[in-house]
Amino acid sequence: RFDHAIRPKRLVDYIGQPRVREQLEIFIGAARKRQESLDHTLVFGPPGLGKTTLANIIAAEMGVGLKSTSGPVLERAGDLAAMLTNLEPGDVLFIDEIHRLSPVVEEILYPAMEDFQLDIMIGEGPAARSIKLDLPQFTLVGATTRAGLLTSPLRDRFGIVQRLEFYNLEELTEIVERSARLLEVETSHQGGIEIARRSRGTPRIANRLLRRVRDYAQIKGSGHIDTAIADAALNMLNVDHHGLDHMDRRLLLAMIEKFDGGPVGVDSLSAAIGEERDTIEDVIEPYLIQQGMMMRTARGRVVTRQAWQHFQLTPHEDAADVE
Ligand code: ADE
Repeated sequence: RFDHAIRPKRLVDYIGQPRVREQLEIFIGAARKRQESLDHTLVFGPPGLGKTTLANIIAAEMGVGLKSTSGPVLERAGDLAAMLTNLEPGDVLFIDEIHRLSPVVEEILYPAMEDFQLDIMIGEGPAARSIKLDLPQFTLVGATTRAGLLTSPLRDRFGIVQRLEFYNLEELTEIVERSARLLEVETSHQGGIEIARRSRGTPRIANRLLRRVRDYAQIKGSGHIDTAIADAALNMLNVDHHGLDHMDRRLLLAMIEKFDGGPVGVDSLSAAIGEERDTIEDVIEPYLIQQGMMMRTARGRVVTRQAWQHFQLTPHEDAADVE
């Protein structure tokens, strides 16, 4: 994957998320003016919306280095200690999937975040000692799919918390057109809109589909992307006209066909379609909920009238209605 080539590197090149951009501009500007490092920042939201990109942008705007790791990689306290002691003053430490840190690793993070102190036990038994080390000032940027997955002591230690939202059609079209320029593939405005419309509000998906449509255009067409080429390529890729992919349809159809539209618990759904519960909760359902295709209720998930209609099925009398 050659994401780095089209990933925006500065805040001015970052499209969409206006609230996040406006706030970061202020907080980064102020931190720079005071010649301090930026407060620890938590970024959350569904995958593919630009959490890693933002961490890179924060480092670039602050003029500091970035060191990157993820929750599951940091198995032992020593793994995190190694990262922390390797930081240069001011650096951004990016921890992706920060909700998956083990409790012992998380314990090391608290004094590091709060007092820039490393507080670690070395050795075992009677020879065991606790050592304290001063760390350079740094900015922790944590990313997670849902803020609610973090323990509250960890969440409370972030001075800045930003939630990323799905991109609207206009923003996503702008992203597709920008990427098309960088990839040097001629794309009509309508062609760009078609790709954007079918990208689940997600830049990572838009950029992936753009590359596949480009392939299709080079083999089946003239190399240029227009609406017809985009439509044909996206149909081939099993992305429907509403932008729902194969997994989205599988989930909705399982709810309709096996559970009569719900309510159904997420674990039953997980068993029914053979997808992990986390994938359903973090990847699939946020977009379907945002699109008004399903809802979370106290008794479980239900599909809406719109979902039945999407499959040309007659909705249940009591099917929920959105908007
Ligand atoms: N590529 C991926 N996400 C982007 C964004 N938010 N702005 C511009 N280009 C992007």
